[in-house]
Amino acid sequence: MTVLEHVPDGEAEQIDHIVELTGEQLKRRYTNGPRFLRGVHPKDHGCVRARFAVHECLADDYQVGVFAEPGRQFDAWIRFSNAAPLVSPDSALSEAGAVGHGSRGMAVKLIGVSGSRLLPEDGELTQDFLMINQPVFAFANVEDYEALSRIILEDNENPKRFFAERIRRTPEGKPVMSDPTTQRAVRTAGIIERITNSKPSAYQPPPLSPLDNSYFGAAPFLFGEGRVMRFSAKPVSPMLGDVVEFVKNPNYLREALHKRLTEGEEIEFEFQVQVRSAESLAGAIVTEIEDACVDWDEEKHPFVTVARIFIPPQDCTTPERKELCERLSFSPWHGLLEHRPLGGINRLRRAVYEVSVRARAVSPEYSAPEY
Ligand code: HEM
Repeated sequence: MTVLEHVPDGEAEQIDHIVELTGEQLKRRYTNGPRFLRGVHPKDHGCVRARFAVHECLADDYQVGVFAEPGRQFDAWIRFSNAAPLVSPDSALSEAGAVGHGSRGMAVKLIGVSGSRLLPEDGELTQDFLMINQPVFAFANVEDYEALSRIILEDNENPKRFFAERIRRTPEGKPVMSDPTTQRAVRTAGIIERITNSKPSAYQPPPLSPLDNSYFGAAPFLFGEGRVMRFSAKPVSPMLGDVVEFVKNPNYLREALHKRLTEGEEIEFEFQVQVRSAESLAGAIVTEIEDACVDWDEEKHPFVTVARIFIPPQDCTTPERKELCERLSFSPWHGLLEHRPLGGINRLRRAVYEVSVRARAVSPEYSAPEY
């Protein structure tokens, strides 16, 4: 098998530590609450019924895993969410009137998938695609995520010390950019700044509804033996406009989703992949696979549409749908061997999502409820 990952020394122990910290954090947040919520992305905007249609004229090269059969259609569930670790307003206006942005999630679960699965013990076989609305993740690797997890537990959810501890400075106060730890922390600060502001440097404008941003897997996954993909979902006809008048409403995204799906037409996203061969990644595993802050140059590795996602008009605000949203569990490790998650951040996610799901007491049969 081609070697597509590079596991740093000590990573397994760091993962065990993060699992422990995550469990403690969840207990602290929710032991006295009505129920345990997800470790991150606890606030949903709605769970919607959808159809995932593999492209009918898919080139042979792309007929891999869930895309093996051109024209095949899967029923799917999609959960739209805010990534923030606590339930909070969707966006806020600063004193200067600028709209705060935010990281959002789109998690897609294909039902009725067949093939060889990644996790033998885990409920019905589905293929989950978890995405956020920026092309990179803010933390590069497990080492950094361990530091973050420790600090947010010790400092009551405040991540500030992560930067103070990891950015080494010259006596004049300039970051020492020859130090790799400093370099990564400076880059993480830059990514967070781009996620939270709404200036042109932001990855995307704040959306009018969850249906109006593009979403990205933000980490690499196998695309069959010896090839790797990054994936994305792009709305075909996003509505664009100023969100200033909406963001005063703390739940404007949930309300906008409901309005669009009850008053509008069917919504369509293109599901796209960037695919690279092991040869193209030779000598670059540490950056292009192991560092989740690095995306792939789109000019050299263009996104290709391999499927379409259709979301029909529907009411996603019923009590049953809301309960379903709490009960669903998505993981990058729910899926086919051909799409194995790659890189440190993905290796970490396998155990951490399980901690969150256990804390929420979600049983596996809810992973793929009746459609
Ligand atoms: C490429 C990076 C990542 C992406 C794209 C991503 C995306 C997502 C999305 C979209 C969800 C919401 C799923 C839902 O709606 O139920 C989610 C949930 C979650 N994520 Fe991530 N995530 C990433 C990295 C991480 C990391 C590094 C951790 C921590 C180690 C993490 C921990 C979690 C947890 C605990 C949940 C809730 C699981 C549950 O209870 O069902 N994620 N993630």
